[in-house]
Amino acid sequence: MTRTAVYPGSFDPITRGHEDLVRRGLVFVDRVVVAVTTAGGKAPLFTLEERVALARTTLGEDPRIEVRPFDGLLVEFCDSVGATMILRGLRYVSDFEYEYQMALMNRKLAATIETIFLVPAFDLTFLSASLVREVSRFGGDVSTLVHPSVAKALAKKFSGA
Ligand code: PNS
Repeated sequence: MTRTAVYPGSFDPITRGHEDLVRRGLVFVDRVVVAVTTAGGKAPLFTLEERVALARTTLGEDPRIEVRPFDGLLVEFCDSVGATMILRGLRYVSDFEYEYQMALMNRKLAATIETIFLVPAFDLTFLSASLVREVSRFGGDVSTLVHPSVAKALAKKFSGA
């Protein structure tokens, strides 16, 4: 039996923190489907196509990892890819309330899908896509925080090219 987990998010853009979480997930599941949301109410910096492409480049060629766009309910997406787990990262206490609420709502919608929270690597705990965007917007160096292709895409976005 293949154990599949879905790792959902807006990935705007994918960071080394997200990458770390995918690799940690692969320790206990056979397949991780990274589900890139259309981002609902938020206005993302990168288009859905760009976010998917950057995630694919960052995560590289690994048959155990898939990156897919998704719209609609997460639990329905999980069903469509045969996943029984949702992976989410927990960095701070401030993440907890939102994550707990989502986990309970997802359980209400689909009782057989479990949400698994993973703690990122110590040196990536402070990292968030929004901070990466902000630092990059003002010309700061994000090269250790994201894959080189993401750093390049951020620089291009903010140069207006
Ligand atoms: O990285 P984010 O933006 O915090 O991810 C939020 C995400 C995509 C996991 C969440 O918004 C989501 O699951 N959206 C899909 C719609 C849905 O199923 N909503 C009910 C979940 S409580």
